[in-house]
Amino acid sequence: MSTNKIATSAVRAGINTDEHHGAVVAPIHLSSTYSLKGFNEKREFDYSRTGNPTRATFAEVIAELEQGAVGIVTSTGMAAVHLICQLLSMDDTVVIPHDCYGGSYRLFTHLAKRGQFKLIVVDQNDSAALTKALANNPKLVLVETPSNPLLRIVDIAEVTKACHEAGALVAVDNTFLSPALQQPLLLGADIVFHSTTKYINGHSDVVGGVLVTKDKALGEELAWWANCIGITGSAFDSFLALRGLKTLPVRMKQHQENAEKVAAFLKNHSAISSVYFPGFEDHPGHDIAKQQQAGFGSMLSFEINGGVEAVKKLFANLKLFTLAQSLGGVESLISHPSTMTHAGMEIEAQLEAGITQSLVRISVGIEDIDDIIADLNHGLAVSQQQ
Ligand SMILES: Cc1ncc(COP(=O)(O)O)c(C=O)c1O
Repeated sequence: MSTNKIATSAVRAGINTDEHHGAVVAPIHLSSTYSLKGFNEKREFDYSRTGNPTRATFAEVIAELEQGAVGIVTSTGMAAVHLICQLLSMDDTVVIPHDCYGGSYRLFTHLAKRGQFKLIVVDQNDSAALTKALANNPKLVLVETPSNPLLRIVDIAEVTKACHEAGALVAVDNTFLSPALQQPLLLGADIVFHSTTKYINGHSDVVGGVLVTKDKALGEELAWWANCIGITGSAFDSFLALRGLKTLPVRMKQHQENAEKVAAFLKNHSAISSVYFPGFEDHPGHDIAKQQQAGFGSMLSFEINGGVEAVKKLFANLKLFTLAQSLGGVESLISHPSTMTHAGMEIEAQLEAGITQSLVRISVGIEDIDDIIADLNHGLAVSQQQ
């Protein structure tokens, strides 16, 4: 395991590895297939669904950043979540948080409806409810912290300890922070995964995923499944994500500096009734976040006064913010979780998770902070006009 610091590993990934031409940056290998040296004499790679040099470089660096044994690059973040489901049989129980990403919620609830496993949806901050769920001896517990879109914090070390005592594997969605700000495997989790579409690539031009296991045998089992079901990521996407990854630590610094200022601005704004941001001392789980995270990230959400009509006016009057689904790119994005990212959740489940019609989510970008705040200030003022 490398002892490099995160910034060094991110920048140095694949540098100087081209023995043929001495290319400084890891070359992209688009070939779908590789020749054998002779009869039954395979090289390291033979077919790109199974293995590809560019994808392998990306997988290795993510595994290093997450301090795990095996990294697997998938075609999307959802493919990484689905890959974990290959570990489950009909009689197994899975526990997921009630406030996870809408796409994860949709996948687990629909597979459970088809009888692929049993599912318990629980508020993981409710320790009595979690203990009750763990009494069913689940095979897998999914954790998402900070959660999407309410930024709820789960104590990874504490929850993992309880899950392990119940015999469950713990898989943590680390998409909102990236390994630059949180390393769940070091807190005891068995699997960590990302939508690399977000901070890891960071430029909103790749859809991808990655999964890292602490244990080598578990990683090899999942890598076998990734090839078997054909959900490995492409060489081109791996190349772009590797390129984006090199600036991850510096991007995260700027993202966070901006997010703190936006959060403070929103907190005092008369158009807003609540702001959800883990950096606030009164945010539930702030102390845990401080302990298990290296920063508070750049995602936040808020409740606007005036309901969905005010949300519409806000969106219509922003110039810098783009109304779009995703997050984690260098540009600032704004969204309405109920009708966008969490539309895959029934409305009752949304309300149960605290997702209301007046909830707005922001992915704070790295534009000039004065421009970001001026845009929000204008949009919020118009949102309150009759
Ligand atoms: C927290 C989280 N996990 C997983 C995903 C799924 O990733 P993808 O869209 O790359 O499939 C997303 C997508 O928004 C997400 O926000």
